[in-house]
Amino acid sequence: APELPRVAVVGTGYVGLVSGACLADVGCHVTCIDKATAKIEALRRGEIPIYEPGLDEVVLRNVEAGRLRFTTEIAEGVADADVVLIAVGTPTRKLDGNADLQYVYAASEEIARALDHYAVVVTKSTVPAGTGFEIRRIIEGANPTLDFDVASNPEFLREGNAIGDFMKPDRIVIGTDSERARQTLEALYSPFTSQGFELISTDIISSELIKYAANTFLATKVSFINEMADLCEKVGGNISDISRGMGSDRRIGRAFLQPGPGYGGSCFPKDTLAMVHIGEKALSPATIVEAVISVNRMRPHRMVAKVVEAAGGDVRNKTIALLGLTFKPDTDDVRDSVAILVAEHLSQQGAHVRAFDPQGAAHAKSILGDAIRYSGSVDEALRGADLCVIATEWRQFADKPIEEYKRLLADPVIVDFRNIFSPDAMRDAGISYYSIGRTKVVVPAVRLASAS
Ligand code: UDX
Repeated sequence: APELPRVAVVGTGYVGLVSGACLADVGCHVTCIDKATAKIEALRRGEIPIYEPGLDEVVLRNVEAGRLRFTTEIAEGVADADVVLIAVGTPTRKLDGNADLQYVYAASEEIARALDHYAVVVTKSTVPAGTGFEIRRIIEGANPTLDFDVASNPEFLREGNAIGDFMKPDRIVIGTDSERARQTLEALYSPFTSQGFELISTDIISSELIKYAANTFLATKVSFINEMADLCEKVGGNISDISRGMGSDRRIGRAFLQPGPGYGGSCFPKDTLAMVHIGEKALSPATIVEAVISVNRMRPHRMVAKVVEAAGGDVRNKTIALLGLTFKPDTDDVRDSVAILVAEHLSQQGAHVRAFDPQGAAHAKSILGDAIRYSGSVDEALRGADLCVIATEWRQFADKPIEEYKRLLADPVIVDFRNIFSPDAMRDAGISYYSIGRTKVVVPAVRLASAS
């Protein structure tokens, strides 16, 4: 096998750590760099700072094999690197919705100062079109004699599935503007291409835009199906059947047609906003993406309205069991999670919210504080509550028999933002059930029924 390039990863957050660990796993020598001393020390001890299924094993076995190292020193980290991946954060800039590139630029300058040999400096963070050229300018300014190339190599991994997505990618995208950079990145990904995974090689701008196009298109599917679900709630019709009926057309595809409380997380909200900003700046408006954002902005309000309706018109002094706080299952990430917004609104309206999440409670608490209470288990959240809201489709919520929900709740009322149960089963069990884009099931309240 040909010699694999040596890799340095700047920024050991979600994307950086997964990418670094997985590249080590296919045989590269990788050094992960981060300024956060505590994080690097923890990683050296084998403690993984994020919850991601399978990541700990990949990190540990590559540290053990001597292929994966951690450092806080950028100079040490890039000393023998052929490829430097920039994987620092690109949050939304509060001011204007644009991606905030200050960390990318600061990293570029530090990398430039630390390098004394040829390397390809690659953005893995999602960055607007043209950032690669800006990085080149910064590096040239900081180290005028350095021989280097810039390149783009966006990451498509999903939280909760990150290892699988990295190891078995639908495609790998590299954007380069020199033969040497292209060959270096092709060598980096040769362990994947030799197994038959597709590598798409483009210019830098196209590669940068592919990431935005892919994410905003997926967000479009989600907002589209959510709008269809709203329509179903007005005219009848079952959104699950519609998703299946649409999705089985291969030109449309089944994925990303699950209706829900709206997309959240660290990517879609940020990338849709950034796409609009990119379009505005280029005088080429991203009109469809603007509509996608406005549909998504309405979702939390609709979800709250649904809960209020299920509560009989008022949530004041009602105890609400909220199942799920993360933006999706199998992660501890609560960034832009609709569950958090809904919890906030309901408690502002006087509800006593009692939440359970298998992984996200600590992060949720750092946002919500004492506005809600936190339960240690599903049962504890449900016991004696007037209503249950399912906000995230964690496996264990769907696996719990519905009779248990009925037994534990004071009133058998469930509002399900993720359609994890069947309305028919709920009707049979005597549970009032409000889901998304499907007929609601309303059974007379137990207390009322026994009083009459
Ligand atoms: C996403 C992209 O999938 C990934 O390729 C990219 O690199 C990063 O952003 P992630 O944010 O981890 O990954 O989550 P994803 O599984 O894509 O879900 C995003 C949001 O859309 C979640 O809030 C999810 O609940 C919602 N969603 C997704 C739906 O509401 N319906 C669907 O059918 C799919």
